[in-house]
Amino acid sequence: MNTREELAAHLALYAELGVAGISRDRTWRTRADTGGQIESGQPEGAAAETMGPLTPSASPDGLVSVREDLGDCTRCKLHRLGRRQIVFGVGNPKAELMFVGEAPGQDEDVQGIPFVGRAGQLLTKIIEAIQLRRGDVYIANVIKCRPPQNRNPEPDEVASCQPFLFAQIDAIRPKVIVALGTFAARALLETDDPISRLRGRVYDYRGAKLIATFHPAFLLRSPERKRDVWEDMKVVRDLLRREGSA
Ligand code: URA
Repeated sequence: MNTREELAAHLALYAELGVAGISRDRTWRTRADTGGQIESGQPEGAAAETMGPLTPSASPDGLVSVREDLGDCTRCKLHRLGRRQIVFGVGNPKAELMFVGEAPGQDEDVQGIPFVGRAGQLLTKIIEAIQLRRGDVYIANVIKCRPPQNRNPEPDEVASCQPFLFAQIDAIRPKVIVALGTFAARALLETDDPISRLRGRVYDYRGAKLIATFHPAFLLRSPERKRDVWEDMKVVRDLLRREGSA
């Protein structure tokens, strides 16, 4: 793709996301267009431990030891239900922005990298829409192994993987976490609320701000919801700025 085609592709995605326009005016770009809509809070019944502070030993270098601790994991039944490999996570170990999805699909299981299939390509575009590159952020899943036939992960599988996701978050210390889709949002926030109720709020979560948005795979089926995701990503962008970055 040449530069002109790349630009055209970016603009096409912006249009799909509902971005109203692009200006070279600095004040237009820095406008706080989510002011007042950000609500802070925790879902009812959220476990204090889940929302708890970072461990004192948290450090980006800790990601390597988290991976070592995970090893060739056989803690839950997924290791004997057809997984090819563990899909640990990918990206900047010091990322300010972290995305958490549900579980690896077929493409991810083959490549060992989260979000590399069609949904992953859309996620990359969503990241680029807030002027970041995929390599700037960290991407992981609630579950590190592919469930058979892409079924929903089961509670014992989530429980086995949860300490490793928490350890990843504590090692990376992102400023903002985006939970992608109902499953990730519910698993992280320990609630049964529908994504429609979980969206539009900013949660304090393990030393980060967390927001929930629609899963890119859902957007592939329901492209009309891309505008909602763009609204959520503007909140993410503003949170990153407010926390002194981006
Ligand atoms: N869907 C997810 O939730 N995670 C992936 O890694 C790929 C698709």
